[in-house]
Amino acid sequence: MSAYKIGQSIDDVRAASGNISIHKMSSNENPYGPSPKAITAITEQLSQLHYYPERDDSKITRALAEHFGKGLCAANFTTGNGAVDLINLLESAMFVEGEANSIVICPPCFGSYAATAKLKGATVIEHPLDPQTFAIDSAGLANSITENTRLVYICNPNNPTGSYFDQSALSQILDSLPEHVTLVYDEVYYHFATEFRMPDAIQSVLHKRNIVILHSFSKAYGLAGLRTGYAIASEAIIAKLKKRKLTFQNDRLSMAAMQAALGDKQFLTKIIDNNTQQRTWLRRQLDDLGIQYWPSQANFICFKAPNGKTAQQIIELLLTYGVMVRAAFYLPDCVRVSIGQAEANRQFIKAISEIIDQTSGGTER
Ligand SMILES: Cc1ncc(COP(=O)(O)O)c(C=O)c1O
Repeated sequence: MSAYKIGQSIDDVRAASGNISIHKMSSNENPYGPSPKAITAITEQLSQLHYYPERDDSKITRALAEHFGKGLCAANFTTGNGAVDLINLLESAMFVEGEANSIVICPPCFGSYAATAKLKGATVIEHPLDPQTFAIDSAGLANSITENTRLVYICNPNNPTGSYFDQSALSQILDSLPEHVTLVYDEVYYHFATEFRMPDAIQSVLHKRNIVILHSFSKAYGLAGLRTGYAIASEAIIAKLKKRKLTFQNDRLSMAAMQAALGDKQFLTKIIDNNTQQRTWLRRQLDDLGIQYWPSQANFICFKAPNGKTAQQIIELLLTYGVMVRAAFYLPDCVRVSIGQAEANRQFIKAISEIIDQTSGGTER
């Protein structure tokens, strides 16, 4: 059975490569560290760890409702151990026991949708993005749905391509879905979409549409190691999800960190601004090097492996320069680089430009 393959850890690479400085640009993490307010909140909780946490996440769901406003209430939210946990929870809640179940995904996309569904015996139906532009087929997506389809996954901005779509595409998809299908709208990178007007999916939740929005504290808030995320949906959908959650599912550290990070506006602004600036800088450098890449509104860029190399060859060559990147899933010729701090980005560009020079002799693989 296929499980989602995680990337190498920085310790693995350090152990293998001795003393060179390593830049981990492979998992779309926040290179600036966690929200300082979250660190303080976690530290304050440490001496309380002998006490159970609150029974449920109602404190944080109230805080989320207040944070977003727009008429949402606590009952429109539930938290999980990262968006991955919520994907798993959604599939458990929406799959029908004793019947065939299927999901529809739009590859190239995040691997966990298919991995967790397959573990539950579901069929994974692929409705690919446009192979040239990575645009979503909003007009035709519903054609891939069968009577057993429970969930359709779309991601905006999309991992690994960085591509994005607007309100009209989201509305078209939602309007095309039959009643028995729930749309999972994965928006874990939404903070980074600073040069594009993202759809207002919360309006669809307020209109009780069949949609679940996924958000995460792993990306802009820098809490990937803590495993915290949340879903936004109609009260009916959230109630269905909550039935499957365990008492004391959220630990003290996660709940304190989420609450504090939500209030850390200064940190968030810094992260988003830096990401936009560094993304612009990287785009310019890639242009100068003649490397093909796709427009991204996320904290990573997907580019074509230069000089006819495979993604794997470029990944291995970059590692020799201490730069960790990842293959863009489903795309053997494309590499995904997470946007780092300025120094990491410079090291990446220096390395890739030297690799281009070294490998410019031929296009053999
Ligand atoms: C598109 C997408 N969705 C969900 C996740 C999982 O996020 P979390 O760390 O909250 O589990 C990731 C992680 O990289 C992702 O890229």
